[in-house]
Amino acid sequence: MPLVTTTEMFEKAYKDGYAIGAFNVNNMEIIQGITEAAMEEKSPVILQVSAGARKYARHNYLVKLVEAAILETDLPIALHLDHGENFDICKACVDGGFSSVMIDGSKYSFEENIALTKQVVDYAHSKGVVVEGELGRLAGIEDAVNVTDEDAQFTDPAQVEEFVSKTGVDSLAIAIGTSHGAYKFKPGQKPRLRFDILEKIQQRLEGFPIVLHGASSVPQDKVAIINQFGGAMPDAIGIPEEMLRQAAKMAVCKINIDSDLRICMTAAVRQHLAEHPDHFDPRQFLTPGREAIKQIVAHKMRDVLGSSNRL
Ligand code: G3H
Ligand code: 13P
Ligand code: ZN
Repeated sequence: MPLVTTTEMFEKAYKDGYAIGAFNVNNMEIIQGITEAAMEEKSPVILQVSAGARKYARHNYLVKLVEAAILETDLPIALHLDHGENFDICKACVDGGFSSVMIDGSKYSFEENIALTKQVVDYAHSKGVVVEGELGRLAGIEDAVNVTDEDAQFTDPAQVEEFVSKTGVDSLAIAIGTSHGAYKFKPGQKPRLRFDILEKIQQRLEGFPIVLHGASSVPQDKVAIINQFGGAMPDAIGIPEEMLRQAAKMAVCKINIDSDLRICMTAAVRQHLAEHPDHFDPRQFLTPGREAIKQIVAHKMRDVLGSSNRL
């Protein structure tokens, strides 16, 4: 099976009230952990690559590793550029074998965002690749885009129809209170998502797939393991999984999760090395690291997103 776009995945997810997980990949063990989970859960999956991942692992390695995962699993996998900053990186990924790209024009004015997004859509669609746009700003740190809490700006439902019709995007990332990274809410702060905004957007764009970024839940048991074995992560709260379940039943068809995978993999590696101080073969500590990725992804698919048994 070749790489697929997200079109059919989103149509089914919208109709049946679940979401597809989009997990960030940076190396072989992460790709294997995610795709082994997807195979066991019989779940469609989106593997996404940030500019930082392309810099770290390099484009061709990531594309070839994903091709290898398809050979091994025969799963419908979409390969997606996460937070494309400009036309050039989107074009490089369209030309370089991706089936989906995100152009993140959220830091620009509404008009500039439309113009840039449309340029990417015109090119990507001519090559059979789908495009995710973004309207509204997330709090926290985006790849190469710094947005402070004060600047956080929820998506304005009054703008979404014009944005979608003028750009021709295939899906839309919105800001309703999620944020990137492992420190979303301080301890004691009550996590809150603006479901009222999501509902308004859903009414205006009936049947159109919505994307949620910054959707990690920051598992406290794994943070405790990291800190028990020499780590120093501050206390923080993520997005409650119950809220993600609710969003997945609504118009949200793609939910982006990266930090939770990082935390789970790091906890497993730290614990392994602390318990086996004599180990120095990377395969010894990357094996539990890969298994931790598999466990957290299977949990998200089965217990949060509702994407298990949807092939
Ligand atoms: O939204 C950002 C993703 O978590 C990717 O992070 O730029 O560190 O690869 P990165
Ligand atoms: P988290 O940092 O919450 O995992 O979000 C990841 C993301 O949105 C990638 O685009
Ligand atoms: Zn993101």
